[in-house]
Amino acid sequence: MNKTVLITGASSGIGRALAFEFAARGYHLGLAARRLERLQTLRDELRSRYPNGARRIEIGALDVDQAQEVAGALAPLIKSLRGVDIVVVNAGVNRFTPVGKGQLTQAAAVIQTNLVGAIATVEAAAEHFLTRGSGQIVGISSLASLQAIPKQGAYCASKAAFSMYLDAARIELERKNIAVCQVLPGFVLTDIMPKMEKYPFAVSAEQAAREIVTLVENRKPFGIVPAYPWKWLRPLFGHFPDALWRRLA
Ligand SMILES: NC(=O)c1ccc[n+]([C@@H]2O[C@H](COP(=O)([O-])OP(=O)(O)OC[C@H]3O[C@@H](n4cnc5c(N)ncnc54)[C@H](OP(=O)(O)O)[C@@H]3O)[C@@H](O)[C@H]2O)c1
Repeated sequence: MNKTVLITGASSGIGRALAFEFAARGYHLGLAARRLERLQTLRDELRSRYPNGARRIEIGALDVDQAQEVAGALAPLIKSLRGVDIVVVNAGVNRFTPVGKGQLTQAAAVIQTNLVGAIATVEAAAEHFLTRGSGQIVGISSLASLQAIPKQGAYCASKAAFSMYLDAARIELERKNIAVCQVLPGFVLTDIMPKMEKYPFAVSAEQAAREIVTLVENRKPFGIVPAYPWKWLRPLFGHFPDALWRRLA
């Protein structure tokens, strides 16, 4: 039987590419984000690519910044899909937050979306899966959880904290038949930041999505995308010369 996946932040970038990749592999889809009109267009595109109607595609408005409302916002989507098997916690933002330049509001907003909003989404997913008796939670963290990037301190902090939260959730939930997978994308060509192409080994959202879905299907607890060359370089994280990252800032 085909599985059902719910993706947050599906209106652009990696989330949108994940929708196409999961659809290509036969999954039913729940797509959530703030920009509903983009989700409607995405659903139309998916339906014209797969016109036989075999895949259920439901969309729903979600603002993870309203952390207390996340479970309530996802509930009707989950209901219309008749339950979900996988939740991809992907919604996220990045902002330049140079230190000492009056960016506290921006920094707090990044933490709210990427950490508090992401935790609220994991909570909602876990609640559903505990009732259902099984499930899989996929958290989209970042390589920035392992490597500090100047002027993106709030982003790095949000992802490092989210990774730690996911790892605790993984240990806590594995005996309840709920798998938690932590994905660390490197640099992916999306609108999240200007000039993504200047970052090393940047890949398309489509390539990232292909690798992420393969990790999910293999129920891996951890994965970096693109796998190469980052897998080889992983032991060096935290040991690269600061000058290298200063040049990218
Ligand atoms: N691109 C990279 O190089 C890279 C690297 C590592 C990790 N990541 C992570 O990958 C994830 C997706 O990023 P992306 O690169 O695909 O960026 P993107 O193209 O800007 O997409 C971000 C998505 O998150 C959604 N979103 C943002 N704030 C939200 C909120 N408050 N509530 C609900 N949805 C919200 C956006 O939808 P709406 O605006 O419609 O709500 C959008 O669909 C993020 O968690 C990001 O940190 C990206």
